Amino acid sequence: MEIIVAKHSGFCFGVQKAVDSAYKCVENRMNDVPIYTHGQIIHNRDVTDELESKGAKIIEDLSEAEPGSILIVRSHGETKQFYEDAKGKGIHLVDTTCPFVRRIHDLVAEAHKNGKDIIIVGDPNHPEVIGTNGWCDNTAYIFRDPEEAAVYHGSSALVVSQTTSRISTFQEVLDVLRASGAELEVMNTICSATEERQKSARELAKKMDAMIVIGGKNSSNTKKLYEICRSQCPKSFFVENNKELPLKEISKCNRIGIVAGASTPERIIKEVISTMSDNITKDNENVTMADLMEEIDASMRLPHNGEIVTGSVVDVNDSQAIINLNGKRDGILTAHEASLEGDQKLTDVFHKGDTVEAKVIKTDDNEGGILLSTKKLEVNKHWEEITEALENKTNIEVKVVRIVKGGVIAAYKEVSGFIPMSQLSNRYVESADEFLGQVLTVKVTRVDQKRNRAVFSHKAVLAEERQKKLDEIWETLKVGD
Ligand code: F3S
Repeated sequence: MEIIVAKHSGFCFGVQKAVDSAYKCVENRMNDVPIYTHGQIIHNRDVTDELESKGAKIIEDLSEAEPGSILIVRSHGETKQFYEDAKGKGIHLVDTTCPFVRRIHDLVAEAHKNGKDIIIVGDPNHPEVIGTNGWCDNTAYIFRDPEEAAVYHGSSALVVSQTTSRISTFQEVLDVLRASGAELEVMNTICSATEERQKSARELAKKMDAMIVIGGKNSSNTKKLYEICRSQCPKSFFVENNKELPLKEISKCNRIGIVAGASTPERIIKEVISTMSDNITKDNENVTMADLMEEIDASMRLPHNGEIVTGSVVDVNDSQAIINLNGKRDGILTAHEASLEGDQKLTDVFHKGDTVEAKVIKTDDNEGGILLSTKKLEVNKHWEEITEALENKTNIEVKVVRIVKGGVIAAYKEVSGFIPMSQLSNRYVESADEFLGQVLTVKVTRVDQKRNRAVFSHKAVLAEERQKKLDEIWETLKVGD
């Protein structure tokens, strides 16, 4: 039997962040301050039971939380009113709202302020949709499908989607809304993590004899995964954990695919595989199973600080890009850490699907995120180029950016170096003002990357040029010239 795990399986970036923050919160709890989560932090009983046993109590209403307590806001987000009420009650919020959901809140709040109608394509009872509606004073039109959308007769609207909606439903609703003649501003806010997971589940299900979909029964994204798998592979099963595995039904299948919803911890995926391995595979196939486990472990490993990683862009806006690493982990590249020139924005340089190489600058930003930098990766390359120029005695071009005591600071791409006053020219320089903003050709005379120091000399270049001219003259000079 062959078991294949879908490439995009298990915790998505937002859920990973929320769960990591929740565990950190209960582990660092001080003086028995009560900790709550508003609703289940994820749709997985194993995780929520464990968090509850460590002291994070699930409440259904803010009124149940004591003043001075800590309340973890889950990745689904909350209404604007919720934040105001919590503040009013003196409750400290640990906000793990997924950045993608927060972006929808901002879009909705802005459009509502500008007098537009808000249309949300999604389930009106889903906490994420309830939260989003709260950013336009609960005035949104919420449509589950094209039939419901037919009632809309407004003139101008912003259309957004629940992050876990199916793209086909979103398109069908848009077709109906467009036919109404309304002026629409459409923002496809379906999370690409969801799209990717659905896509890889569909592709895998097409080729498998049976599919196992792992996730909470009340998780909307897992339910959708199950529907997709069943449409491609009739022998699809929806299980919450290894105890629910239909071992008898799948025992005769040669190829079994596994896909897990966004709220499914890696531990549960491994337990499912292990149970299948113990009960179904033949002895000589255990090696393959061990390899599979190893593969999962490797993909869940956190990269270490300073590691160079490669990933693909799954989402980008003007403030940050989300880079998927190995299909299991996501990193955040902020505009501040990206190599941008002049007025360039992140969206000018990075596009969905682009492959990006970056340096890990923090494996945990205190909210479970992996922080990346392309700028720091570039800086390394630039130091290498400077060192090479020193070793080969070649010239480089630098720009004078600042005057300091005894000389100027000149930038070579992302690296800054010092040019002493005596090395700015082959003549006496009284004031460095005339050099500010100039691009100079220089020799590198010293490099100390550890101490972040480089020294340049423009005078050395001028002296070399002068010597070259003199040599030429001496070579061509004849008696009588
Ligand atoms: Fe966020 Fe997308 Fe997950 S919206 S919570 S990363 S499914």
